[in-house]
Amino acid sequence: MTNKTESQNKSVFAKALSNGVNWVDDRFPLTSNVKAHLTEYYAPKNFNFWYFFGSLAMLVLVLQIVTGIFLTMHYKPDADLAFGSVEYIMRDVPWGWLIRYMHSTGASMFFVVVYLHMFRGIIYGSYRNPRELIWLFGVAIFLCLMGEAFFGYLLPWGQMSYWGAQVIVNLFSAIPFVGPDVSQWLRGDFLVSDATLNRFFAFHVIALPMVLLGLVVAHLIALHEVGSNNPDGVEIKKNKDKTTGIPLDGIPFHPYYTVKDLVGVVMFLIVFSAIIFFAPEMGGYFLETNNFVPANPMVTPAHIAPVWYFTPYYSILRAVPPIFNSQFPGVAAMGLSVMVFALLPWLDKSPVKSIRYRGTLYKKWLAAFVVSFLVLGYLGTEPSNIWGQFGPVLGGADRATVVARVFTVIYFAFFALMPLYTKKDKTTAVPERVTG
Ligand code: HEM
Repeated sequence: MTNKTESQNKSVFAKALSNGVNWVDDRFPLTSNVKAHLTEYYAPKNFNFWYFFGSLAMLVLVLQIVTGIFLTMHYKPDADLAFGSVEYIMRDVPWGWLIRYMHSTGASMFFVVVYLHMFRGIIYGSYRNPRELIWLFGVAIFLCLMGEAFFGYLLPWGQMSYWGAQVIVNLFSAIPFVGPDVSQWLRGDFLVSDATLNRFFAFHVIALPMVLLGLVVAHLIALHEVGSNNPDGVEIKKNKDKTTGIPLDGIPFHPYYTVKDLVGVVMFLIVFSAIIFFAPEMGGYFLETNNFVPANPMVTPAHIAPVWYFTPYYSILRAVPPIFNSQFPGVAAMGLSVMVFALLPWLDKSPVKSIRYRGTLYKKWLAAFVVSFLVLGYLGTEPSNIWGQFGPVLGGADRATVVARVFTVIYFAFFALMPLYTKKDKTTAVPERVTG
């Protein structure tokens, strides 16, 4: 008796649900989209942990937007009030400290996740034909993310916020002829001031997040148009079942990868919470010590360093010497060091995509690039005289600067010589179907 009522209830519920879905489907392509992008989107069956980072990037994006909205409810974009309002959030707003630490840790974790996501793209050749546009949208996302982090960093109005913005905006004055006017236009004043804080706030909370969201949608539309790559770099669309037309090496994204990605989400949240609760400043790498001092235009901090995720490019800026007293070459090299990623699809001439089938020549260059990225990243966090000076024979140059120069050359050589070494590299045969 009870069972009958239960099954009757269930069918009434199921009926109501399917009626509701039909009602929506007549007006909006709900079911067809769920099928196209989830239950009948066939992804290669051999994704490994490197494929966690795309969905994790989406998770962090949502976290940043949600925590950002709550921070905006209490933050004051005013040079006289900004620093105090952040302290108020940390001390007086219920759970304000958690929201703020989630947002500040989220910023660093966004870069950790995106760097790993980009690295995955590099090792598996995911930027290659037909995925060039996915990659280009990715590079645009990366630029936008850097802008977002830079604008956000001014908002707490601490010493590092202030002087970091001063240094970076001043870089634009190195552009020949129009430079000084450009940097004044960006600041909205002769020095970083309340006007600068207001416009950076506008960019950080509305302009860039909108662009970022639009780019992420474009990134995913492009991905679903051509389909995902995989650790073998084999195109699964080339081997389809003759009757169903389904790729033989494909599995529906939902439920297989929704469940698998949840494992990544859980692991990420464990690390994320551990940082928030035990090391939110991360020894000065996530929240710099000097930023707990209110901005003071009269006192320049002894050592100005950007947050860790910018330091490889900052190192390149410092490493390139000025020409005729102009800082422009350094600024141009720094810009190029980021933009050059966009050229990867056209620089790589290898007959294979995945690192699994590349030769040792490519692997050595990739390793040299990773080491140079890490060394430059480390040097960018330190003053340029950290290792003292060479003797007079070498012109008394800072040792760290010379090391940064060597690694800057390696960094650019990885890209510039890529057409040559990817052609020469001894690759192995790529299998017809994906392996494990
Ligand atoms: C907010 C930042 C980003 C989000 C939310 C995001 C999201 C995603 C997602 C969900 C996927 C599919 C799952 C996966 O393959 O892991 C993906 C794939 C991809 N993304 Fe991103 N992404 C972001 C940034 C970037 C950046 C900065 C780049 C490169 C510069 C990039 C390059 C790629 C490539 C090449 C693929 C295809 C990978 C393959 O099929 O093997 N993405 N992205």
